Amino acid sequence: MANVDFIDDCERLIDLAPIASANIQRHVFVCTGKSCSRNDSVEVKDAFERELKARELQYGKVSKGCNPNGSVVLTECGSVGFCAVGAAVMVYPDGVWYAQVRASDVPEIVEEHIVNGRPVERLALLRVPADRS
Ligand code: FES
Repeated sequence: MANVDFIDDCERLIDLAPIASANIQRHVFVCTGKSCSRNDSVEVKDAFERELKARELQYGKVSKGCNPNGSVVLTECGSVGFCAVGAAVMVYPDGVWYAQVRASDVPEIVEEHIVNGRPVERLALLRVPADRS
């Protein structure tokens, strides 16, 4: 097990992880697990990257084409159980899990959901937390 010092100085933490003080509003996860990858999820992730960067929404370093003042974090993730209905895309904090996402759907998800706050219902298969009452 790694022996790493715990840092309890908040300013030091923010120096080390500037995202901790950024204006992040949404986190988009694209599953790049084995099954989703067979449904072109890498292309889906690339499409999100293109679309978010073009709108200067993707948080990150300028040297990577991102915006240090961006409000959206985009990351890949492993399987979430949508393997048979991938590619899977999750948008938080809304808790919307999209299924069968293709690269061609990405501009609509960014425009409708990320920019206008209206999830794309035709692709939304699950809400977290689930309402099973
Ligand atoms: S591989 Fe993407 S949900 Fe399983």
